[in-house]
Amino acid sequence: MTRAVTLEFRDSTQDSGLSTQHLLPMTEALQNSVFLRACRRESVPYTPVWLMRQAGRYMPEYREVRARTGFLELCKNPELAAEVTVTAAERLGVDAAIIFADILLVLEPMGIDLEFAKNEGPVIHNPIRKRSDLERLRELEDVGSLQFVFDAINQTRGALKENVPLIGFSGAPFTLASYVIEGGGSKNYVHTKSLMYNDADAWHTLMTRIARTVSKYLNAQIQAGAQAVQLFDSWVGCLTPDDYRAYVLPHTREVIHNIMPGIPVIHFGTNTGALLELMREAGGDIIGIDWRVGLDDAWTRIGYDRAIMGNLDPVVLFGSAEHVRGQAKRILDLADQRNGHIFNLGHGILPETPVENVVALVEAVHELSARS
Ligand code: CP3
Repeated sequence: MTRAVTLEFRDSTQDSGLSTQHLLPMTEALQNSVFLRACRRESVPYTPVWLMRQAGRYMPEYREVRARTGFLELCKNPELAAEVTVTAAERLGVDAAIIFADILLVLEPMGIDLEFAKNEGPVIHNPIRKRSDLERLRELEDVGSLQFVFDAINQTRGALKENVPLIGFSGAPFTLASYVIEGGGSKNYVHTKSLMYNDADAWHTLMTRIARTVSKYLNAQIQAGAQAVQLFDSWVGCLTPDDYRAYVLPHTREVIHNIMPGIPVIHFGTNTGALLELMREAGGDIIGIDWRVGLDDAWTRIGYDRAIMGNLDPVVLFGSAEHVRGQAKRILDLADQRNGHIFNLGHGILPETPVENVVALVEAVHELSARS
């Protein structure tokens, strides 16, 4: 199916004013889904909920697929990626699905040698540490090398219930740069900050290449059938507000500015208690927060002209069903049924989480938030 797409620019630094007038044809059922209504800060019959990493190792159905398929192989197999995405959404009864993929996939065609070592997380074998390494990271003019992601989105859209929107995603420039420079996860981001402080010019060149690629990648996901997109700036909370403003904000703003108008953008990070106003400034129709901030305080600071996503501590799911319910209620009370709250965890579900508590959480959010 071909779809007419007009690329215009949005300005999310002002009131995003998401309209119901989408540039891509969208069914009534999707347009009026509880999740997209909340993204647009419209009234909802109950608070929508979905969970980061909802398709992951805590779920036996996922482990069963992973027992016979490597992680990257799974990401690159559209049928299987669609299957694990849809299975998780249906098993949990959530109000949105997120495409099964990984933030690091976009780096491979840019020139990065990526591996998911068993029990070690991601490893990059050719990290970029200095200006002369920059030639190894190319901006993607065309994102065709990621066609497997677009095929997975297209197949997932076709298989999901018609009122369950599909979220596409990418890493934000800072978080992607941190992997490229550190060569994997990091505690203190010494290499990342060293490049920033010692060669700002090289830093901005790297961030510009990533930002331009990410905009194209997200727009292609939208064209393939995603109804919303999320930018994961998972590790940006390691920065001071001044460093965020100088080294990150312009690049994240550029990505968001270039995303097709009418498509909700979720801007998420962890440990961002000192950065919320600046994240708002960078853009996003929905700001995703972790559990270290109170949802009421965070929303006041972000402003009620943006929607908010969060923010249950993923470790709460290791408590009893009553504890989970009580903590869900606490967050719903802080949101006070104001339009524009999307319930989520403050970060991804942990692999050891009991599935029955995850199911109980989704039920509790729906039940406790039902509008009278
Ligand atoms: O949320 C979903 O259900 C969609 C799928 C998804 C995955 N990764 C699958 C995955 C999403 C949205 C991501 C994003 C991602 N990947 C982020 C941002 C979110 C966050 O957690 O902050 C980051 C930082 C990554 C990079 C990454 N991928 C790491 C650090 C790891 C190893 C840690 C771990 O949990 O094992 C991965 C691997 C990964 N990505 C797994 C899954 C389900 C586990 C791999 C496996 O099956 O063994």
